[in-house]
Amino acid sequence: MRILQLGLLVALASSVAAILIYIVGLSNPYDRFTVTDDDRSALRALQSGFKKCVDAKGLGLQALISQDYCHVTIQYPRDTVPKWRDPKTGELEGLSFDFNLCEAVATWEQVRNSSSILTKEFIDALPNGWEEYAWRRINKGIQLDRCKNRTLCMEKLSLVLPETPPFVPKQFGRCAVVGNSGDLLKTNIGKEIDGYDAVVRENGAPIQNYTKYVGRKSTFRLLNRGSAKALDKVVELDETKREVLIIKTTIHDIMNKMIREVPIGNQVYLMLGASFGSSAKGTGLKALEFALSICDTVDMYGFTVDPGYKEWTRYFSESRLGHTPLHGRAYYQMMECLGLVKIHSPMRADFSRVVNWLPSESILNAARTASEKVLRRIGAGMDDPLSACSIIKKRSTGKSPSISGLREAAINHQRYMNGATTYPLEKNTGNGMLCIVPDI
Ligand SMILES: *[C@@H]1O[C@H](CO)[C@@H](O)[C@H](O)[C@H]1NC(C)=O
Ligand SMILES: *[C@@H]1O[C@H](CO)[C@@H](O)[C@H](O)[C@H]1NC(C)=O
Ligand SMILES: *[C@@H]1O[C@H](CO)[C@@H](O)[C@H](O)[C@H]1NC(C)=O
Repeated sequence: MRILQLGLLVALASSVAAILIYIVGLSNPYDRFTVTDDDRSALRALQSGFKKCVDAKGLGLQALISQDYCHVTIQYPRDTVPKWRDPKTGELEGLSFDFNLCEAVATWEQVRNSSSILTKEFIDALPNGWEEYAWRRINKGIQLDRCKNRTLCMEKLSLVLPETPPFVPKQFGRCAVVGNSGDLLKTNIGKEIDGYDAVVRENGAPIQNYTKYVGRKSTFRLLNRGSAKALDKVVELDETKREVLIIKTTIHDIMNKMIREVPIGNQVYLMLGASFGSSAKGTGLKALEFALSICDTVDMYGFTVDPGYKEWTRYFSESRLGHTPLHGRAYYQMMECLGLVKIHSPMRADFSRVVNWLPSESILNAARTASEKVLRRIGAGMDDPLSACSIIKKRSTGKSPSISGLREAAINHQRYMNGATTYPLEKNTGNGMLCIVPDI
């Protein structure tokens, strides 16, 4: 009995010791994940500015902050009547949503510096890229038996798979992302939208007959599965026929056939998505993600963001139930108050509206570095632009994306990156990046 008790005691003591070593190990001052006082104050500054911004600009939304400086809750006024029900649980949407500011600043900054278009060099560089990844971007790809016949797989992707990224970070200056909300009919902002360097539209959004409200210019169009199936109809929406089509799901045989036979002359690409969890379901957030990966600034129009707006109409058709509208609106408000986007809507109609309490560049940079440590991201707290790469491959010579004719901001970014291209990897790989460096 004695011996048993002694054994238990030893076991207990050693596990306590192990825990202690673990804790001490974590707070080792030389550990690059160690969160310093400066890191904490940067996060606190971000969080308190964020609260002021949401309270001032959120049209009734309020941000609650806590001791945990990564965490914020965005809350709707008590008298808000939620209308959307979860089809699975039948539950009404809630009135308060938790967000992780650290996750948001770290992840969106990665988006801004990486390619969001699927390329051949990405698949080639990914370990088992063809066997594990490529077939998932082909409709019914499972029948391709993990791309056993690589030629066949490549054939199916070839029309939408450039060798290197066709667009680079900061290629465009000011961009507008135009959603499809019926709200657009309340203001005549067509001219305002046409003044942007690039305009991103979504799915089957018509332009003709609505130019007073939505403008004429259309540089990119983000397509979900349904719209991609009707590619021939979609290309008719843009009279210039120069719109670049970005598909967020998979490529279909019918699409390939249309591109070849109709023929569709527009450039068509597949989007490579970073994952933002449940709020990322919609085409809207994907369009913002795409714009942020190629533009200096992003303004959003036609997203249902005003309080009291319950119709969910599209500007060109009958009402249609959106999903998680309150969550979406709160998420967009978070993006605005982190300085990622500027929201335009009938209730925020003043074009030159200033968003107060935005984090300064220095706070944002410090908070991002701190966040990377808190989240224990690969490359946290390091200055080298390639420190976040968990996979690095050399690009075969002569295949670098062309930088001739690019804006200065884009060239400077390429220079900062030493000519490397980074691609986001899926979440389960520790948020590292896949990086392709020039072979010099
Ligand atoms: C692989 O696919 C190509 C293109 O469709 C085809 O020509 C070839 O016969 C296939 N190879 C095998 C081994 O099935
Ligand atoms: C625009 O309006 C005209 C006249 O009403 C109509 O014939 C045409 O089909 C409309 N175009 C679109 C794209 O809806
Ligand atoms: C993104 O690129 C800019 C330069 O364009 C650089 O200052 C910044 O540190 C980069 N961020 C990350 C996370 O690499």
